[in-house]
Amino acid sequence: MNGGARNIQDVIRLLLSASANASLYGAGHPQVVRLGAQLYDSIIAALEDVEELSLMIIESELIVNGMPQDFSLYLNRFSQILKARGIEHVKILRGITRQEVDSFIVSLSSAQGAGGETASSDHLRFGRVEVRLGSGMTGSGSNEAETASSRIRLPDMPKEELARFTEIYEMVKRRQKLKITGILDIVSGFVEAFRQEGKPLLVLAALRENDEYTFTHSTNVCILNLAQAMALGIQGQLLKDIGVSAMLHDIGKLFIPEEIITKKGKLTDEEFDLMKQHPAKGARYLMKTAGVPRMAAIVAFEHHAMLDMSGYPRFPADWRLNLCSHLTMISDIFDATRTRRSYREPLDLDEVTAIMLEMAGTKLHPVLTRNFLRILVNLKSPS
Ligand SMILES: [Fe+2]
Ligand SMILES: [Fe+2]
Repeated sequence: MNGGARNIQDVIRLLLSASANASLYGAGHPQVVRLGAQLYDSIIAALEDVEELSLMIIESELIVNGMPQDFSLYLNRFSQILKARGIEHVKILRGITRQEVDSFIVSLSSAQGAGGETASSDHLRFGRVEVRLGSGMTGSGSNEAETASSRIRLPDMPKEELARFTEIYEMVKRRQKLKITGILDIVSGFVEAFRQEGKPLLVLAALRENDEYTFTHSTNVCILNLAQAMALGIQGQLLKDIGVSAMLHDIGKLFIPEEIITKKGKLTDEEFDLMKQHPAKGARYLMKTAGVPRMAAIVAFEHHAMLDMSGYPRFPADWRLNLCSHLTMISDIFDATRTRRSYREPLDLDEVTAIMLEMAGTKLHPVLTRNFLRILVNLKSPS
């Protein structure tokens, strides 16, 4: 990938991440502000190579500056998010301000956010594309000025995975009932994308974020769990349950004070004691929720146990961990070490591999860890 293309990928990745975080935590959250600043920088960098950035959705394909993009899960997600908000094209011009970037994040983050005043501005335009048969495709002036607000109908977002997930987590936060159907759709979407893409972990590179927030982590762990399970030949309902369990494994964190979850640096002993309650709280919550596979509650409960049972919570001596808990521990540790933390840079794949090999047989299931590392090796070899 050349530098220009990489810049554009960065813009899209940050836009996704910032808007998802904005809908999860609100536009004023420090995480959103930080992602907004990074997004702004990446737009400025991208606009060094090109006069303007033009993103267009045709059918469900994303066209960037006239170039159709190869299928990838996160580009696909991005175009679904735009589509769901009635946005079929976005034009970003040189001279864009930080404020315009922030408004755009808000527009993408919620139905209400895409109010008229934020929809189009001097250096940022978005709206519908009009397709005229015979005369080709035109993004006519009047359409460009059109606001997206009138087009948004949240109920008809059949495949809008990220927003749905956000919505689900927000509901849980407000102590409402979890809608398991949304999670099922997300997992089915991943399984389908893997089928199309062949190399599931390539998706991961795009999904990996700088932040540690639950939604990104959960989708990463889901993808990793599915990759592991598929490599073991698992299919059908069990595969989906494994994906759903991954999506929900950390749901108990929503019952832990946010300052602890988002704290930079090390937790105090008291804070860590509270943090250690998230498996039990998550499991209890999932047990009470209709339609959630039993496995998801088990995995939420067991995912910090470790093979040698040295983790938390405490288990009876003869406790046997579920296979999916082992898979989830592996995915969880991998994602945690690969993700940049406030107190250290992300480790490279070789370092992570070494750490995981050392844990294999004590903290992590040895056979499953090898299965996982084999997937990583395939990922590293050129396609
Ligand atoms: Fe956890
Ligand atoms: Fe986790």
